[in-house]
Amino acid sequence: MFICGQSKQRHRLPPIDPLRRPRYHHGDVSDPSTELRTGLEELYRRIASCPDCDLCQTRTHAVPGEGPANAEVMFVGEAPGFYEDQQARPFVGPAGRFLDELIASAGLRREQVYITNVIKCRPPDNRDPLPTEIEACRGHLQRQIELIKPRLIVTLGRYSLAWFFPRDSIGKVHGQVRVRDGIHVLHMYHPAAALHAGNMRKVIEEDFRKIPEALEKARQDQQPVSVPQPEPEQMRLF
Ligand code: URA
Repeated sequence: MFICGQSKQRHRLPPIDPLRRPRYHHGDVSDPSTELRTGLEELYRRIASCPDCDLCQTRTHAVPGEGPANAEVMFVGEAPGFYEDQQARPFVGPAGRFLDELIASAGLRREQVYITNVIKCRPPDNRDPLPTEIEACRGHLQRQIELIKPRLIVTLGRYSLAWFFPRDSIGKVHGQVRVRDGIHVLHMYHPAAALHAGNMRKVIEEDFRKIPEALEKARQDQQPVSVPQPEPEQMRLF
């Protein structure tokens, strides 16, 4: 088990080498600790050249995630889509534009939060991620959580929910916060759901309005945090 520890130093990370392509966006960051800087840079390098599943053969770019190294809130989506794969940035297509609006409605700015996905490479034709792909990518998200130590994780959609709570159904738990291994996790429907079913929009907007209170509660909670590990029967539940 990776132990994150209780103290949460807020370090900022400068943009990495602008000559390297693709350029990953760290948000408004500077003055990192060496450990955090090298840890994230090493992770981004590993993800960019990850060979651990077949998606490495079809991706244009891997999409590690972006945001300040000291983000208090981490959003976890499902997988990069067409635009994300082209730009190596998460949530930059239509679902991303709606996510930006939702983040603003919660009183936050996109540059303030960390955004990533359960899997870091686009599945062909935007199909659902396979269990083998999710497991191959699990260590990347675990390492992101371990380094960034968000106070609140917001899951977007059923794959992200299942990464933390494999037995639960999004229809039952959306809008709720649960604590897993000391991390406060708030569940949302995926923003793309509102683009496909207009009646979902109100539900998602209402759930996002719960973020400020959830964040405040997470800040007050002094529980030690450890990075969630898969439950033994997780594989067969996907
Ligand atoms: N949908 C996701 O789940 N993630 C993205 O990055 C974009 C769309």
